[in-house]
Order: sequence, then C-alpha cells, then structure tokens
Amino acid sequence: MALLAASGLCKSFGGVRAVDNVEIMVPQGSITGLIGPNGAGKTTLFNLLSNFIHPDKGRVIFDGEPIHSLQPYQIAQMGMVRTFQVARVLSRLSVMENMLLAAQKQTGENFWKVWFQPHLVAKEERQQRERAMMLLESVGLAAKAQDYAGALSGGQRKLLEMARALMTQPKLILLDEPAAGVNPTLIRQICDYITQWNQEG
Ligand SMILES: Nc1ncnc2c1ncn2[C@@H]1O[C@H](COP(=O)(O)OP(=O)(O)OP(=O)(O)O)[C@@H](O)[C@H]1O
Ligand SMILES: [Mg+2]
Repeated sequence: MALLAASGLCKSFGGVRAVDNVEIMVPQGSITGLIGPNGAGKTTLFNLLSNFIHPDKGRVIFDGEPIHSLQPYQIAQMGMVRTFQVARVLSRLSVMENMLLAAQKQTGENFWKVWFQPHLVAKEERQQRERAMMLLESVGLAAKAQDYAGALSGGQRKLLEMARALMTQPKLILLDEPAAGVNPTLIRQICDYITQWNQEG
C-alpha cells in the first residue's frame, strides 16, 4: 500500500495552472524523486501534499487517511514532515533548541507532569538532547549546537531543517530542494545520509 497517494490534484493561482491533475504514489520505504524545471510546480505540489495550501480539486491520502481537513501540524504529528525550499528555522533560538522543539509527544508538554513528574521530564529531555546531538553530528552541525540558528549560513539552515525533521521520527519526509545552496561535497554526504535514514526506516 502507498504511504502517500494523491490523485487529481489541481491548483491555480489566477491564470497560472501551477499543479494540473497530478497523480503521485509514494510506496512505504521508498525514496521518490520529483524533478522539473523552475516554475514547474514542485513546491506548490509539496504545499498541497502537506496541506499548507488547499487544492482546487483532488485528494491526498497519507498513511491510509485523507488529510484535507487536517492542519499541517496535525499532519506532522501523523508522521509526514516537510522542509522548505528556503529553510525556515527559529532564528532567535539555538540550534539545539530548534532540535528539541521538534521532538513529539514530550512529557514536559503537559502542565501537570512538569510539576509532578519532573524527573521523568528531565530524563526524557536528556535523551532528546543525545538524539539531537547525534543527528546534528550527522549533518556536521554539532559544533554549532549552542549558536543562534539565525547565525547559520543558508546551506547550514537547510541541514538543520533536515535534522529537525528527523527529530520528529517521521514516517515520511518531503524535502524541497535539499541540495540547493549546499556545497557539492556536502551534497554527496547528504545523499548518503538520505539513503541511510531511509534504510533505518
Ligand atoms: N502563491 C503564489 N501566487 C501566485 N503564483 C504562484 C504562487 N506560488 C506559485 N506560483 C506560481 O506557480 C508556478 C509554480 O511555482 P512553484 O514554486 O511551485 O515551482 P517550482 O517547481 O517549485 O519552481 P523552483 O524549481 O523554481 O522552485 C509558478 O509559475 C509560480 O509563479
Ligand atoms: Mg520550488
């Protein structure tokens, strides 16, 4: 069964048909590429698949559920996260804080548990920090963990976005131009990591 499937997707902006009757199927465990020239509609399709914008027509099924009535954050909680062509990070937070915020279902999100189960909250946060550090190491950002995310270069922000997406332990990641603005040596490394992350599930 497809993990992500879309059919008959259409989106126009005024007279521009950005996405015209698109069918796409992403099988579980696959790495699926989407290519096209500038302005072909790739980013618009990603925005539709993650419900950042609503389609004029068509539907999207993720993990067996239609997602048209869900907010992007709810889709992320279901396990589909996306990155942006121009990376979006929380500039005034540190790289590590950007990572920690992404972790899902943290005990510390519950007001009462913060007060009555502080040890559990602290233990979980330690584990999240370790996991975040491991992911930051894999994208070469470990030394920047305490820096403001806003101080990173464009390429480094893309890497942070990818690492942050992985912090959510997603079932599917939509990467919008993961290599744009990243140096060629690092691109090879990112390709290797994408393969590795895929194999790890
Ligand atoms: N919010 C918007 N308002 C108006 N037109 C838009 C909007 N978003 C996209 N478009 C138009 O839709 C078309 C597809 O744009 P889109 O950004 O999806 O292309 P792309 O394939 O991601 O291009 P690139 O490779 O340059 O990132 C373009 O003609 C663009 O001008
Ligand atoms: Mg684009």
